[in-house]
Amino acid sequence: PKAVKAKIINLEPLRDKRVRLSGWVHRLRDQQDIMFIVLRDGTGYLQAILTGNANKTYDALTLEREASVELTGTIKVVPEGQKAPGGHELVVDYWRVLGRAPGAEEAFSNRLNEQSDPSIQADLRHLVMRGETSSSVLRLRAALLTAFRATLATLNCLEVTPPCLVQTQVEGGATLFKLDYYGQPAYLTQSSQLYLETCLASLGDVFSVQESFRAENSHTRRHLSEYTHLEIEVAFVKFEELMDHIETIICETVDKLLADTSASALIKSLNPSFTAPIRPFTRMSYVSAIAWLNEHSILHPAEDAEGNVIKDDDGNVKMVKHQVGDDIAEAAERQMTDIIGRPVFLYGFPAEIKAFYMTKLPRVEGQPEGVHYTESCDLLMPGVGEIVGGSMRIPDMDELIAAYKREGIDPTPYYWYTDQRKYGTCEHGGYGLGVERFLAWMANRYTVRECSLFPRWPNRATP
Ligand code: 4AD
Ligand code: MG
Repeated sequence: PKAVKAKIINLEPLRDKRVRLSGWVHRLRDQQDIMFIVLRDGTGYLQAILTGNANKTYDALTLEREASVELTGTIKVVPEGQKAPGGHELVVDYWRVLGRAPGAEEAFSNRLNEQSDPSIQADLRHLVMRGETSSSVLRLRAALLTAFRATLATLNCLEVTPPCLVQTQVEGGATLFKLDYYGQPAYLTQSSQLYLETCLASLGDVFSVQESFRAENSHTRRHLSEYTHLEIEVAFVKFEELMDHIETIICETVDKLLADTSASALIKSLNPSFTAPIRPFTRMSYVSAIAWLNEHSILHPAEDAEGNVIKDDDGNVKMVKHQVGDDIAEAAERQMTDIIGRPVFLYGFPAEIKAFYMTKLPRVEGQPEGVHYTESCDLLMPGVGEIVGGSMRIPDMDELIAAYKREGIDPTPYYWYTDQRKYGTCEHGGYGLGVERFLAWMANRYTVRECSLFPRWPNRATP
């Protein structure tokens, strides 16, 4: 019978039928009279069996893993107890090589093993991603973005696509990538927040999935120079409701993924002990977090007046107790979430360590004069630390103008942002979630670099 063109994912109804499949040789096992190929076509894996003359040809004798092939044959159910992906296999009666892969075996087994240098892994990212783990992470990433979009649709948030080329900063001038834009300075966007804010009066609550760029010289396992930023902006909310919103988005998205058979299988294979986080998340003020860190003897790197880390003669960083006003560093944050073991909102950071656009928390009695805390929050997850950063935005025009001044920002290029306060301002807030960090948490990856298609970090923009 004539063979039907098929994909591995759709073989169920094609059992005992003759099919034609194209894909790559994922694994190869050659025995005397029989050759086993595990075929990979991007939708799944399938064991194929070649017997008789089929495995005596030149192509068969020189076949290597990663060659692309077309296999034609009959789909057979595999007897219980015999292991085969999908529960069926292909008994091949005709096959041909589409693209040979000389040297692939060497590249994969010698250069790309568990022990290989991270820079080799990075250089060969285009090959690494053919592996089961890497492709599972990328597959889960796609499912995650779909689930986020579905959750946001139920909350009537509309997706928009803000620009990447901008002339305003959001998160501080120090981390901007500057470029020449027809002879004028421009930057790669750090956050789409300001653009999302302009959409509220037009489209209501909005979100975007956009790349953000940070020229941070951070060689950590959770910093990228380019990352995918899910940002959400909501109108007519209070600070508490904003934190509820974050919690809802995260919990409902996780529930959707766990309810989906293929996504939950991916999570299970990558992170067998994963469980959905329990609501409500702990909410801890910045001031209590500083006290908590000191109670747990978690120290802070000492800094001089310019903010440079102080080192001793042996080059070791001098560690001191945390003080109100300190930024909670990555290491401290990580230790904290490891001890607490569940999601934690830290809120109310001092204005000095946060961005210009944030509203102030109402003053608390006994609070020293001149100390200002903001309606800001970071959501920390065990194993990763901060995955979400959000805040309420200053709705008042005069206050916003004062904030530009305090930060030394020239308000001229921000006229469109300021106009939002001029024409029908509203109480509003929003947040940004690092997609790679979220994925690193869900899939239990050591670094966000494994969660990006082609990760960029200081001095790396290849492949
Ligand atoms: O905390 P951030 O800087 O907040 C903002 O950009 C706000 N304007 C977002 C908003 O309110 N719309 O960044 C938000 C999140 C962080 O919590 C983190 O998950 C991620 O973006 N992120 C990074 N991820 C990878 N590499 C980096 N260098 C990142 N910087 C921030
Ligand atoms: Mg942040």
